[in-house]
Amino acid sequence: MVHQAPKEVIPLMTPYKMGQFQLSHRVVLAPLTRCRSYGNVPQPHAAVYYSQRATKGGLVIAEATGVSATAQGYPETPGIWTQEQVEAWKPIVDAVHRKGALFFCQIWHVGRVSNNKFQPDEQAPISSTDKQISPDPESGMVYSKPRRLQTKEISGIVDDFRRAARNAIEAGFDGVEIHGAHGYLLEQFMKDSSNDRTDEYGGSLENRCRFAVEVIDAIVHEVGAHRVGIRLSPFVDFVDCVDSDPIALGHYMIQQLNKHEGFLYCHMVEPRMAIVDGRRQIPHRLLPFRKAFNGTFIAAGGYDREEGNKVVAEGYADLVAYGRLFLANPDLPRRFELDAPLNKYDRSTFYTQDPVVGYTDYPFLEEDSNRKAATQA
Ligand SMILES: Cc1cc2nc3c(=O)[nH]c(=O)nc-3n(C[C@H](O)[C@H](O)[C@H](O)COP(=O)(O)O)c2cc1C
Repeated sequence: MVHQAPKEVIPLMTPYKMGQFQLSHRVVLAPLTRCRSYGNVPQPHAAVYYSQRATKGGLVIAEATGVSATAQGYPETPGIWTQEQVEAWKPIVDAVHRKGALFFCQIWHVGRVSNNKFQPDEQAPISSTDKQISPDPESGMVYSKPRRLQTKEISGIVDDFRRAARNAIEAGFDGVEIHGAHGYLLEQFMKDSSNDRTDEYGGSLENRCRFAVEVIDAIVHEVGAHRVGIRLSPFVDFVDCVDSDPIALGHYMIQQLNKHEGFLYCHMVEPRMAIVDGRRQIPHRLLPFRKAFNGTFIAAGGYDREEGNKVVAEGYADLVAYGRLFLANPDLPRRFELDAPLNKYDRSTFYTQDPVVGYTDYPFLEEDSNRKAATQA
């Protein structure tokens, strides 16, 4: 009798049932803004890019996609508020589905993380506040002074989110991820450094979260909790958006999500990585939220193969989202399966507008599948 060594179990490569969706592995493409949707309309090259990163039973999350004409703050980001945009998404969604993957659309409004030049008629960007973000010397970004939304205008923005979610489903997406992270409009309301309102959308934690909760409720009502996820980053402090009590904020939001039976997933971003003993360490501070949330929990921020396997094995997260590594390695799940070396990412082309360079030209481990993906898209 021949004894075979048992096959190594790779936690990231094990199947998982997320609500009604059957996933064949746990390696998720994190939402990544790529600035290649000219005139806010998704382009055919996005079908190549996303289908390169799509696998049978994998979860792909599309880049942040604007809910309205005032939602943009970066060059050439896609939208989903016009019929033209919905039609342009359809072949991209089809290309991802042909590979057998699930495709969720991340919907956002940047709020004050913008400049008049990105706004209709060069108006001021809208926000919870009229406090301007301090200029960022690193990126050279200059943010315009925002206009504080009047109380009566807020229901209109909630409606924009609702319509965007419906449009995403019409375009064929399997669901939507509400962008409630990284200092954009929802967080500008949620966090106390950027919410200085005195109406029912400011002051107490409940009031500050009211806008986000209204967006969540509206979208759940529109498309069903079984296809709605949200991204939150209570610990992250981008673009002057900080909360004095991130733990209370995270817990309050989890409670609101749990009110919706079957709310699909909560995608949380780790605090910035710390250096411990000369090695970058993920702080793993999301555990209390993971324990409190009833649905699927996705962790993101600084993960590699080893850390991803560890958190899945420990039950710290159900799924792990990869940003920069997946950007540079279209076949990341396959590389993780084989423990193969990874391509390095090129930061200089993250946000450039070329339809190929730094976008669809990262090599596959097996060049063959690269050609196949390109011709199928
Ligand atoms: C080029 C680039 C674009 C990004 N765009 C988005 C975005 O559209 N929406 C979002 O929620 N996060 C965005 N992020 C954050 C990533 O989703 C992810 O959380 C971050 O890169 C940390 O994960 P990583 O260490 O695996 O890269 C972006 C990051 C990068 C590098």
